[in-house]
Amino acid sequence: MPSSLGGLQRCFWAVLLLLALAVLLLGCIMHVDIGLLMPQLGDQADGPPVTNVMFLKTHKTASSTVLNILYRFAETHNLSAALPAGGRFHLGYPWLFLARYVEGAEQGGPGRRFNIMCNHLRFNPPEVQKVMHSDTFYFSILRNPVFQLESSFVYYKSHVPAFRNVSSLDAFLASPWTYYNQSLGLSNAHARNSMWFDLGFDNGAPPEEGYVRARLLDVEQRFQLLLITEHFNESMVLLRRLLRWRLDDVVAFRLNSRSQHSVTPLSPACQERAKHWCALDWRLYQHFNRTSGPGCAQS
Ligand SMILES: *[C@@H]1O[C@H](CO)[C@@H](O)[C@H](O)[C@H]1NC(C)=O
Ligand SMILES: *[C@@H]1O[C@H](CO)[C@@H](O)[C@H](O)[C@H]1NC(C)=O
Ligand SMILES: *[C@@H]1O[C@H](CO)[C@@H](O)[C@H](O)[C@H]1NC(C)=O
Ligand SMILES: *[C@@H]1O[C@H](CO)[C@@H](O)[C@H](O)[C@H]1NC(C)=O
Ligand SMILES: *[C@@H]1O[C@H](CO)[C@@H](O)[C@H](O)[C@H]1NC(C)=O
Repeated sequence: MPSSLGGLQRCFWAVLLLLALAVLLLGCIMHVDIGLLMPQLGDQADGPPVTNVMFLKTHKTASSTVLNILYRFAETHNLSAALPAGGRFHLGYPWLFLARYVEGAEQGGPGRRFNIMCNHLRFNPPEVQKVMHSDTFYFSILRNPVFQLESSFVYYKSHVPAFRNVSSLDAFLASPWTYYNQSLGLSNAHARNSMWFDLGFDNGAPPEEGYVRARLLDVEQRFQLLLITEHFNESMVLLRRLLRWRLDDVVAFRLNSRSQHSVTPLSPACQERAKHWCALDWRLYQHFNRTSGPGCAQS
C-alpha cells in the first residue's frame, strides 16, 4: 500500500511538472504572440502622426496619387503646404529647386517653414531645408525604369526634343544618340535617367561604380523611405506605419495613370537597351527595390 501510494505521489508530481512545463510553454507562445502584436499596438501608442513631410515627386511613377494623398492630409489637418509661386504647377522644375520658388517663402522675412512639400521639383537639399522643418520626413517613389521610360515616351512625345522626331520607343532605343542631344540637357531630362535627374544628380554621368555608390549613399542618407511603384499597396502600408497615419489618410485614388490602351510593351531586347540607356536609374531602382522587405525599401 505505502509503495503504491508512493507511486501515486510520483505520478502526481510528474503530472504537476508536465503541467508546469505546459504553462511555461504556453507562456512562451503567448509571449511570442504578444511580441508579434506589439508593432500593431505600437502604431497607436507611438505618438501623434508625423506632419512634417517632404515628398520628392518623381515623374511617371504614380507620384500624382501620392501627391493627392498628401494634399488631402494637409487639408484635413490644417497644415501648411509649400506651393509653387506664381500659380505654377511645379517648384522650378527642371531647374534645381530654390527656396524662392515657394509661394510666400520670403514673406515676413526668411525662416518661414512649411509642413508639407510635394510638387515636382529637382531636388536640392540645402534649399529645401530652408523652407522645411528640421524634423521633416523625406520620401520619394521609384519605378522600374523600363516602364518609366515607356510612360515618359507616351506622355512627353511632343515636348521632349529627343522623342519628337522618332516614331517609336523601339526606334529611339535602337539608336538613341541619333535623337538625343546631350547639350540640350534640361529639355531632354525626361528622355534619360529621369529619376536620377529628379534627385538632383547628373543624368548624363557615366555609370561608374564609385560615382553610383556615392550617390546611392546620398539618397539613403537623405530619404527615410523610397516607395516602389510596382509594390504600390505595400508601399502605402509602410508609409502609413512610419508616419503613424490613419487608414483613411492613405486611401488612394489612382491619378494620371496611362490607360492600358496606350501601353505598347517593349520586346525583351528593347527592355535590355532601355536598362542600358538608363543605367543610372536602373542601378537606383535595383538598389532600393532590394534594400529591404518585399519590394519596399527603407533605409
Ligand atoms: C489652421 O491654421 C491656421 C494657421 O496655422 C490658424 O490660424 C487656424 O486657426 C487653423 N484652423 C483650424 C480650424 O485649426
Ligand atoms: C526633326 O526633324 C526635322 C526635319 O527632319 C529637323 O528640322 C528638326 O531639327 C528635328 N528636330 C529635332 C529636335 O531633332
Ligand atoms: C545639339 O544642341 C546644340 C545646342 O543647341 C547644337 O549647337 C548642336 O548642333 C546640336 N547637335 C546636334 C547633333 O544636333
Ligand atoms: C491595391 O489596392 C487597390 C485599392 O485598395 C486595389 O484595387 C488593387 O487591386 C490593389 N493592388 C494590388 C496589386 O494588390
Ligand atoms: C524587385 O523586387 C521584387 C521583390 O523582391 C522582385 O520580385 C523583382 O524581380 C524586383 N524587380 C527588379 C526589376 O529587379
